[in-house]
Amino acid sequence: MLKGKKITVGIAGGIAAYKAAELVSGLVQSGTVVNVIMTDAARQFVQPLTFATLAGNAVYTSMFDERYTGEITHLDLAQKADLLVIVPATANIIAKAAHGIADDLLSTVILATGGPVMICPAMNTVMYNNPVVQQNIAKLRQLGYYFVGPASGSLACGTSGLGRMKAPQEILQVIKQIFTGGDLAGVKVLISAGPTLEPLDPVRYIANRSSGKMGYHLAEVAMERGGEVILVSGPVQLPAPAGVQLVKVETARQMHQAIIENFNAVDVVIKAAAVTDYRPKQVAAEKIKKNEDQLLLSLQKNPDILAELGRLKQHQILVGFAAETNNLEQYAQAKLKNKNLDLLVANNVSMPGAGFDVDTNIVKIFCQNGTVTELPLMSKRAVASRILDLVVRCRNEQSEQ
Ligand code: PMT
Repeated sequence: MLKGKKITVGIAGGIAAYKAAELVSGLVQSGTVVNVIMTDAARQFVQPLTFATLAGNAVYTSMFDERYTGEITHLDLAQKADLLVIVPATANIIAKAAHGIADDLLSTVILATGGPVMICPAMNTVMYNNPVVQQNIAKLRQLGYYFVGPASGSLACGTSGLGRMKAPQEILQVIKQIFTGGDLAGVKVLISAGPTLEPLDPVRYIANRSSGKMGYHLAEVAMERGGEVILVSGPVQLPAPAGVQLVKVETARQMHQAIIENFNAVDVVIKAAAVTDYRPKQVAAEKIKKNEDQLLLSLQKNPDILAELGRLKQHQILVGFAAETNNLEQYAQAKLKNKNLDLLVANNVSMPGAGFDVDTNIVKIFCQNGTVTELPLMSKRAVASRILDLVVRCRNEQSEQ
């Protein structure tokens, strides 16, 4: 699938530059013709010889290299490549790309590239979260640049958080999917994620502990596999995955409206959101004063979005989640049946490493045809892949009927 493809790999100056060697090696082993460009800063971290040896090609480091008068010019590096991958992408190279600055070979090649560009950010969490960096990323996303990562984890600066470069094998996987189209190519997937917040007064709300991680991983993996993803998300602290259409909502009723509006146009719905089941009957116009020892709240049930989709369902594959603390199997089977679902992903949220606000999950997936897939503790990204494998299987079975 990558055989004969020409990929230009641009390496910027971050400690993760050493990991790009594994990516270059993987690309070459997959039959890709790789040209490597290194910035001056990148060469402070890794020697060009490493990449020249792995790629079997000289490494390009300067705008004013005599090789550009020969067979390959800097425009060839940009325009004859099937893909340009920037790995690792620093805040600096992202800023240059977002603002059209071309003051060295890599930034010039980015500007001269008409084809797909993939950016794999790696930097300190505070830098990544800086609104300037986020604005640059948002601008490039809007212009159609692919973003892969960053991931969360321990960082070279000694801290831990978002900003770690995605593993080379995962980046390679995404590159392969870009060229094959992926098994969800052209499939419209609607995913809900995060909590809903139900206001009590202008400063307080009722909510739950959902971080959105499960749903955001589903959106990211579905997109990487070629899906056209709409992500309806409650308030979370996560960046939207590259290429997805993000619809931000706050309350269950807003989530309900956003999902119903899109339902007819999509092929798959995955409801990973933790919808707050009840909302205050009255929302106070002013901040409620703590004058009384007791405050009684009257709550009203929110619409059960998933149950409504089950009733409206036509061609769509419908996937629900069940967050349980006991009787997992029994409650899961009941939800699968009562809500007319194709798949039900059940997590026992009282188990360590499962459920809310952790990077891993432990799930049992119940299928309408009676099969049950029990998965051990694994990353939420890996769980997302397994759920999507089953979605693809359901779609194949549906088209055979
Ligand atoms: O976001 P994370 O921190 O990563 O945590 C992941 C998760 C624990 C939130 C996720 O794995 C999960 O279990 N999501 C579903 C949580 C939930 O609300 O479960 P439930 O059993 O209460 O609801 C069953 C299903 O009905 C869910 O698909 C839910 O989205 C849907 N629902 C529930 C209530 C409602 N009013 N409308 C709905 O559509």
